[in-house]
Amino acid sequence: MSGAGHAWGKVILLGEHAVVYGVPAIAVGIDRGVSARAVALGEGPSLLAVGSWNIAVREDDPENDLARGLRALLDAVRQEVPALPPFSLEVESDLPPGGGLGCSAAIGVAIARAVAPGASEEAVQARAMAWESVFHGTPSGIDAAVAARGGCLLFRKGQAPGAVHVRGGPLYLCVGNTGIPSSTKDMVEGVARLRARRPEVTEKSFEAVRSLVNNARYAIEAGDQVALGRLMDLNQMVLGGLLVSTPEIEGMCALAREAGALGAKLTGAGGGGSVVALVPSPAASDAVLAAWRGDGLDGFATCVARETRVRPLESETSP
Ligand code: PMV
Repeated sequence: MSGAGHAWGKVILLGEHAVVYGVPAIAVGIDRGVSARAVALGEGPSLLAVGSWNIAVREDDPENDLARGLRALLDAVRQEVPALPPFSLEVESDLPPGGGLGCSAAIGVAIARAVAPGASEEAVQARAMAWESVFHGTPSGIDAAVAARGGCLLFRKGQAPGAVHVRGGPLYLCVGNTGIPSSTKDMVEGVARLRARRPEVTEKSFEAVRSLVNNARYAIEAGDQVALGRLMDLNQMVLGGLLVSTPEIEGMCALAREAGALGAKLTGAGGGGSVVALVPSPAASDAVLAAWRGDGLDGFATCVARETRVRPLESETSP
C-alpha cells in the first residue's frame, strides 16, 4: 500500500496575527510547495525523511519535534482509521523552512494526504492541525487551509474559508527572505503579551486590520491592484505597531517599493522570515529581485497557484 500527497506553500497578503483573534485574513497558495510519498511498512514505528533538509526521524522519538508532530498527525488519523499501518514517508519541499511561507503546515497536509488517500478536505486539515499544534502552539489554521486548498482565500478562524476571485489578471508576487529565522510561536506569544499589556491599542490595531482586509478583498475582486498594494503597505504599518516588524523587513519593503512594487509587507509571523511584494508585471518582479540581490538578499517570483472551488463568500460581518 502506498500513497502520495501535495500541498501548497502560502503567502498571507493581509491579516496575519489579527487572524489569531478572529479577524479575517487573505492568503494565497503559491506555485511552490511540498510533496509526500508514503509506503506502508509491515511493522515497527513510522519513519519520516525530509529529503530537502537531510533529516530522518522515527515516530517514537519523544525528544524530536518532527517525530512528535508525526505521532500527533498519525494518532489523529488512527482515531478514524484504527488499522492504519506504519509508514515509511519521504517528503520533499521547495519552501524555505522558518520562512513565513507555511512550510510546516504544507508538510502536515502532504503527509495527511499520503497516508490516507481520499480523506475529505476537513479531515486533511484537522490532521495537519494536529501536526501544526506541536510546532505552533495554537495556530489559527490559516496555513493548513491554504496548504490544502491553494487559490486566494479569505480565512476566518473556525470557519470554512471562502474563495476570493482574482480579477484583472494574475497577482504577481515577489517573496523575499530576510535571512533571519523566526519562530511563529514566539512571535504569536509576543503579540499576546502586548495585548495583555495594552489591550485597547492592540484591539484598535486588529480593527484597523479588519477594515484593510475587507477593502483588500474588494480590491482583488475589482482587479484594482494599485489599491491592493496600498492596503498591504498600510497593513505593514499596523504590523510595525504590533512590534513584529524589524529593520531588515522594513529595508526589504522599501527596496521593493523603490523598484516598482505596488505594495510590500512582511508575510507570516514577522521578526525575520519573509516579505511579500505585489508587483504589476513579471518584468517588475525582475526589478524587485535585482534590488534585493544588490543588497545580498534572496527572493523569488511567484503567482497564485490556482483558483479553488470552495464555497462562495458571504458578506463579511463582525464576530
Ligand atoms: O509564520 P507562518 O507562516 O506560520 O504564519 C503565521 C501566521 C500567524 O497569523 C502569525 C499565526 C497564525 O497561526 O495564524
